[in-house]
Amino acid sequence: MHEGLVPPGLGKLRHRKDLLEISQLTRQDIEDIFNTATSIRSIIGERFRKTMPTLRGRTVALLFFEPSTRTQMSFTLAARRLGCDLISLSASSSSILKGETVLDTARNIEAMDVDFVVVRHSAPGIPHLLARHLSASVINAGDGTHEHPTQALLDAYTIWDYFRKRNKPFNHLRILILGDILHSRVARSDISAFKKLGADVAVCGPPTLIPYGIEELGVQVYYNLPEALADRDIIYTLRIQRERQEGSYIPTLREYIKLYGLNHNVLRKYAREDVVIMHPGPVNRGVELSPELADDPNLSLILPQVNNGVFIRMAIFYLFSPI
Ligand code: CP
Repeated sequence: MHEGLVPPGLGKLRHRKDLLEISQLTRQDIEDIFNTATSIRSIIGERFRKTMPTLRGRTVALLFFEPSTRTQMSFTLAARRLGCDLISLSASSSSILKGETVLDTARNIEAMDVDFVVVRHSAPGIPHLLARHLSASVINAGDGTHEHPTQALLDAYTIWDYFRKRNKPFNHLRILILGDILHSRVARSDISAFKKLGADVAVCGPPTLIPYGIEELGVQVYYNLPEALADRDIIYTLRIQRERQEGSYIPTLREYIKLYGLNHNVLRKYAREDVVIMHPGPVNRGVELSPELADDPNLSLILPQVNNGVFIRMAIFYLFSPI
C-alpha cells in the first residue's frame, strides 16, 4: 500500500462493498474520491511507466453485456495500472448464449477468486442484484437508463479540477444538461452528483425527452435553448439514444439539430464567453454538437473527461478494495 495516498479523513469508503449509484455516497465520500484521484494523478500522471502495484494480487472481472469503448477501456487501464489481474467476459461469445443467467454467470466467475465485478447491462438493477448475491465488490458501469455512477464521478471531478484552477468552487457553478434526459443514465447520475456538490443544475430538451416530475430532483427545466444557455458555466450535452427509443420522440433529427444542436454561432449568441462544453461520449457529430465545437480545445472538456476517468476508476478500485 502506498503511504500518503490516502487523504486525511478518508477511510469510511473502505467499509463499502459496492458502488451502485451516486445516492449511496456523501459529499465527503465524493471529495475523498477526488482527492485520491488527484494523489494518484500526481504520483503517476507524469511518469513514463504509469503503474503503481498497490493492488497487486487482486482480480477484476469486467462483465459488459452492452457495447462500450470509454468505460471498458478505462476500467481495464485502471485495473492494470494498479497491478490487478484482469479477466473480461465477451457477452457475445459467452455461455449466456446457451441460456445461463447473468447471476449464474457472475457467481461462476466469482468462484475463480475475483475481488471486483464491474458490470454493464441494459436492464436497470442488474448491478444491485449481483451485489446482493456476491461477496466481490460490484461496480456499476451503467445499468440501462438508471445510473452510470463512475461517469458522474469523472464528470464532477473534471468540473471540480477545471474550476478549482480558476478559483470557482463547485457550489458557485451553474450547469446545464442538454438533450435526451429521458433515456440517459448519465443525466440521472450527474444530477445527483452535481447537486450533492452544491451546483445549480438545469436541464433542457424537447418536452418528450424530459422525464415527468424531474423538477422534484431540484433542477430547473427549460424547453427553449437560448433561455437555458443564459449565464451557464458548463453545458453538458447528451447523445440522442436512438437504441433506447421505441417510439418517435422527436419529429425529425433535422428539427432537433435546429432547436437543440450546439455550435459556435449558438454559443456566441446566447452563452457566456467562458462557457465550457462536456459530453460523456460517444458523440453524434453534427447532431448534439457541431464537429468544430466538439474538437475546440478552448471550449471542449471531452478529452479531459476521458483522461480523468482512468484516475477516478483507479481511486474507486483503491477505495473499495477489501483491506
Ligand atoms: N461514456 C460512456 O459510457 O461511453 P462508452 O459507452 O463508450 O463506455
